Amino acid sequence: MTLQTQTQAKMHQNKNQNNLQHIPVLLDEVLKYLDPQPGNSYLDLTAGYGGHAEAVLGCAGSLSPVVLVDRDQAAIAQLKQKFSGKNGVEIRNQDFLTAAGELYAAKRQFDLILADLGTSSPHLNEGQRGFAIKTEGPLDMRMDQSQDLTAETIVNTYSEAALTDLLRRYGEEPKAAAIARAIINYRPFTSTTELALVVARVWPGHYRVHPATRTFQALRIAVNDELYLLEHSLPLWFDLLAPSGRIVVISFHSLEDRLVKRALQAESGERYDAQLKLLTKHPVTPSPSEVVHNPRARSAKLRAAVKINKKGNSHAYTGKK
Ligand SMILES: C[S@@+](CC[C@H](N)C(=O)[O-])C[C@H]1O[C@@H](n2cnc3c(N)ncnc32)[C@H](O)[C@@H]1O
Repeated sequence: MTLQTQTQAKMHQNKNQNNLQHIPVLLDEVLKYLDPQPGNSYLDLTAGYGGHAEAVLGCAGSLSPVVLVDRDQAAIAQLKQKFSGKNGVEIRNQDFLTAAGELYAAKRQFDLILADLGTSSPHLNEGQRGFAIKTEGPLDMRMDQSQDLTAETIVNTYSEAALTDLLRRYGEEPKAAAIARAIINYRPFTSTTELALVVARVWPGHYRVHPATRTFQALRIAVNDELYLLEHSLPLWFDLLAPSGRIVVISFHSLEDRLVKRALQAESGERYDAQLKLLTKHPVTPSPSEVVHNPRARSAKLRAAVKINKKGNSHAYTGKK
């Protein structure tokens, strides 16, 4: 039984008892491409509930230092519980662009870097967080609950043109204009399920995937400024890699994967100054059995690279916009 299958089986058992369970995706593949060795330094940019971090630590026996980053306060509380008392573990409640900028300014380098992007299962399972289409909750969708912007503000105050643009850009929604019109007609909205119902009316009929999925994705990306943070972080992450260091990035939708693919390609290949060598020619996707155990894994794509050349301080940190 692989480590992934053991972890999945254990977490699947507990899943219904605890909404805070998050099953780490592509775990065996993450371990294969990171290839943790005793004494390696490790930066987890989206540490979440610590599933990957725990396995990476377990695989290497000892890692030092370990830096765990997450912008979500609930995840940070869990990480503190899980890793309290472990020597050399630093937990940072920050978005990964800010964290990478500060680590870079402090001239830190890491042998292993992991970014497992997107939402965690607790985000989707807890109605109160406002990410779930089918569970009633406030239209929140903030990963960092200390920020002001929520999905409710966007839905209830943005113009029809702005909503259409947002749905097209971040949701790749074919009926963006019709959904934006429906939102304007029915607002104000206070709950996730009200919004999902109105979007579903624009897409009558039965669908395998809920017709509001693209709208919810677009709102979530906008609320959390996900693509801006990712695009501006990737070059910094490469700079934070120590010589021969390895980076693994897991994305969950095509907009994210496109940014990851482009950033990796821009720093690799037959260039005299290439910093990276790709370890994955094509993105690695989960096996059918992983998807059965953990349906959330179905859209995951993993890309990995190794640092072959230290280019130096090539990407100046300019901070968040
Ligand atoms: C898929 S989960 C990671 C789960 C983790 N690998 C585990 O095994 O438990 C993604 C996490 O990334 C965090 N996150 C997403 N975007 C972030 C960002 N820009 N900066 C920091 N954390 C972020 C989310 O709050 C969430 O906890």
